[in-house]
Amino acid sequence: MVGPAGAGPDATVPDATVQGATVPGEFERRGRWESWDLRPVWAEVDLDAIRHNASVLSAIAAPAWLCAVVKADGYGHGAVEVARAALDGGARWLAVALVEEGLRLRRAGIDAPILVLSEPVPEAMQAVVEHDLAPTLYTRAGVRAASEAARRVGGAFTLGVHIKVDTGMHRVGATAQEAVELAHVVAADPVLRLEGFCTHFAVADRPHDTFTDRQIERFESAVEDLRAGGLAPMVLHASNSAATLWHRRARYSMVRCGISLYGLSPTSGATDLPGLRPAFSLKARVSYVKTVPAGEGISYGLRYRVSEDSTVATVPIGYADGVPRAVSGQGAHVLIGARRYPIAGTVTMDQILVDCGVDRRVSVGDEVVLIGRQGDQTISAEDVATLAGTICYEVVCGISARVPRRYTGIRNAQVTPR
Ligand SMILES: Cc1ncc(COP(=O)(O)O)c(C=O)c1O
Repeated sequence: MVGPAGAGPDATVPDATVQGATVPGEFERRGRWESWDLRPVWAEVDLDAIRHNASVLSAIAAPAWLCAVVKADGYGHGAVEVARAALDGGARWLAVALVEEGLRLRRAGIDAPILVLSEPVPEAMQAVVEHDLAPTLYTRAGVRAASEAARRVGGAFTLGVHIKVDTGMHRVGATAQEAVELAHVVAADPVLRLEGFCTHFAVADRPHDTFTDRQIERFESAVEDLRAGGLAPMVLHASNSAATLWHRRARYSMVRCGISLYGLSPTSGATDLPGLRPAFSLKARVSYVKTVPAGEGISYGLRYRVSEDSTVATVPIGYADGVPRAVSGQGAHVLIGARRYPIAGTVTMDQILVDCGVDRRVSVGDEVVLIGRQGDQTISAEDVATLAGTICYEVVCGISARVPRRYTGIRNAQVTPR
């Protein structure tokens, strides 16, 4: 399809009528093409669901604040759009993994406090300061770099920093004693502010695992040492989604929620989410339909064979888009016409095949749901994760950049071009 002169993918115009995408006549009516006109594959992100989830989590955590974790491009949902919706829904802070993720939010005009969850390298500290990001620190070198960068700003500027204590996960963080010492170094530095003191849990997704209680005790003991030394950081925070939901005692003054903000479960064991709504759907349209004779094999390796003359639909989405190749042969399904059909054989890089059996109702252009709802049928990111032998976090983060995100529920703000 060739667009009118000057036309091109333009994600700046909110498209609330997602149903209309690539329906015959829709492109002509719009007068310009979107990337899903060129290949009918897209992810739908429901910003009303993000707003709703942020307000539910804020209410659960209160009086603690909600920090919306929007790293990894908002777990694949789109960091800027999710951040705005989460702030609308009541989040007070945002958190990112990388300095550049923080810069992207600032460039989009977001002025809420932004926490960088791990210690930035010294070379990044100037950007941290210039964009008013709050770094997590746990080494003397990190504190020194933050201090030098903050001093270069001059005037009355002070940089708020968060000291992280490793209470047992052993990923990042100082020992309790070192963390308290670092906090004193920060407090004595006129250009630094001890804004936060934090830790991270290793097994909060297993609600009955008592190791989280041990981590809580170690954290609280470090906080006591801090207070005994006359220090009182403004924000104490430890809880991810699982701990926010299942470890009330560890909510402190802020909780850092990622997966639950997106309406997904932090554990495959418990799906008792208090009214949270999944925000992410993955959709495509059938690109090709044929009848495959009984006994023929399908896709690479010919590991899937049809037992009767079968309608086989091709869908132009594959593992390069983030459909896990690991679901091949594991009983994964898609939805077409609100009916469930199995993915037949190996997921290929750009396409999957769907066995519609003796059903002759499937046609080119029909909407296919890989994650989401169609009629009364649902396929969740958790379902896909289970079949792929992974967690829903990896499924949504893994939907690649070549899948355009389409937003519903946009309010008073443009969608940022990707
Ligand atoms: C330090 C930290 N805090 C909070 C979170 C959010 O975790 P979740 O997505 O389980 O809520 C993460 C995510 O991995 C993290 O690394």
